Amino acid sequence: GKGEFRHYMLKEIYEQPAVVGDTLNALVHPSTGAIALPDLPFDLATVSKVTIVACGTAYYAGLTAKYWIEQVARVPVECDVASEFRYRQAPMQDGGVTVLVSQSGETADTLEALRYAKRCGQKILSVINVQESTIARESDAVLYTKAGPEIGVASTKAFTTQLAVLACFSLALARARGAITAEREAELALSLREAPSRMVEILKHDETIARTAPQIAEARDVLYLGRGLAYPLALEGALKLKEISYIHAEGYAAGEMKHGPIALIDESVPIIVLAPSDSLFDKTASNVQEVAARGGRVYAISDSAGLARLDDAAEWKVEMPAIDPFVVPLLYALPVQLLAYHVAVFKGTDVDQPRNLAKSVTVE
Ligand code: F6R
Repeated sequence: GKGEFRHYMLKEIYEQPAVVGDTLNALVHPSTGAIALPDLPFDLATVSKVTIVACGTAYYAGLTAKYWIEQVARVPVECDVASEFRYRQAPMQDGGVTVLVSQSGETADTLEALRYAKRCGQKILSVINVQESTIARESDAVLYTKAGPEIGVASTKAFTTQLAVLACFSLALARARGAITAEREAELALSLREAPSRMVEILKHDETIARTAPQIAEARDVLYLGRGLAYPLALEGALKLKEISYIHAEGYAAGEMKHGPIALIDESVPIIVLAPSDSLFDKTASNVQEVAARGGRVYAISDSAGLARLDDAAEWKVEMPAIDPFVVPLLYALPVQLLAYHVAVFKGTDVDQPRNLAKSVTVE
């Protein structure tokens, strides 16, 4: 049941520290704290390319993994939505691993993408939540997310546990290829292990975020901006908002604004900016100045140093802990989910059962 929570979605948002912790515990060595994946039926050291295929929120987890893997393991990564990938007859090179990401393990397009990649001789690794599922059965290896049953149609804890698994996979790949120093690997593993307790701190902003919801709920359009690891999260934020609140939302790479979408900006458009203090912060901050100068109303999600820098431009602020940029996706997912949730609740929509959507999409 939902227990003390008004909706399954809210309960599942609050379960994230626990289920991300469980997911990480299964992939981390209990005494050394190093990432320790189960044995895989292929050699990570010789992987020539990683192709990640998924749908919806799971695709955004995959897109995040593209940034992680390229950054730490230096392996080329391609990431596509399954409904495109399965039909475009992509040439696939020897030595490639195809990674399918799916909560249900039953999504029709993702399953057909798996079968295509298999016919092309790829090794198949999947990241799945439901153990007894078709995609899990047809894979060479499975890394399970330990999210438990996800009832809310809008994916929350499945997403952050997918991120946890994919972050561990990135580090394991980096180590196998000798692409990362032992010191940096230990640092990143530690930041990951600390993510659940950081999540607990972040959930304390629930009420602050709820108070901002009525103003966002008035908007007809909302833009989400981010760069680097915050970019897939901008896409996920927009998806979450549109699917449960029915407000039109778009996620954009912050640097793409001036190539078109900036034309949409006026006083009626809230712009949710995901701007951790990382190496791209200055670039994102200047995009924020550009939208603020055109009357856009800025909702900044950043750490205290970032918020101080965005102070003049931002109308709404949510303060995140200062953390290693590598774990930004896991943590910044929470305010993004809470904002969509509270806007939807304020609008009175059926948060757990949004119109036109099904939990598992087994037809194409
Ligand atoms: C969004 C959402 C969907 C799913 C997508 C893939 O909140 O839930 O976008 O992420 O339908 O589903 P799975 O992960 O079961 O393959």
